[in-house]
Amino acid sequence: MYTFTTHSPAETEALAKQVGGKLRAGDCIAFFGGLGAGKTTFTRGLAAGLGLPDLVSSPTFALVNEYHAEGCISVYHFDMYRVTSPDALESTGFWDYPAEDSVFVIEWAENIAEMLPQSCIRIQIDGNGDQPRTVTVEGDERFADLGC
Ligand SMILES: Nc1ncnc2c1ncn2[C@@H]1O[C@H](COP(=O)(O)OP(=O)(O)OP(=O)(O)O)[C@@H](O)[C@H]1O
Ligand SMILES: [Mg+2]
Repeated sequence: MYTFTTHSPAETEALAKQVGGKLRAGDCIAFFGGLGAGKTTFTRGLAAGLGLPDLVSSPTFALVNEYHAEGCISVYHFDMYRVTSPDALESTGFWDYPAEDSVFVIEWAENIAEMLPQSCIRIQIDGNGDQPRTVTVEGDERFADLGC
């Protein structure tokens, strides 16, 4: 488990970009953290780290946003704010997206905690408003040497 503090959205994005640079196809990122913690901001950095252009917006209304670019691993970005049952999860198409060939990013992972793929990289973001954020990354040794 690795813990970082960020003092601005730009710092959160920079940290996320480093995480994104270490991701590979088949990875799943599960975000935990309250309203406005910075999950979408972090996702923007992750996508940048994967080389994807600046397309990231909150998927709250779409439930899932897809990011694709030539030569990059695709990202499927889910918002589970309103998804709390296995049926609701299935109806987002969650199980139909190509998990092995892409990176999944899940906001409001707490809502589908029991249904999360086992191997998810868990990222907890604490803090809101203009407060600094505490970012905890739970995953393998790939994330040991992140700086910020
Ligand atoms: N250190 C920080 N890191 C990230 N965001 C910050 C930070 N400080 C302030 N903010 C602000 O907090 C907000 C985070 O919004 P963001 O949409 O990324 O959160 P979210 O967790 O995705 O929210 P939601 O729960 O609505 O999905 C932004 O307005 C951002 O400018
Ligand atoms: Mg969001």
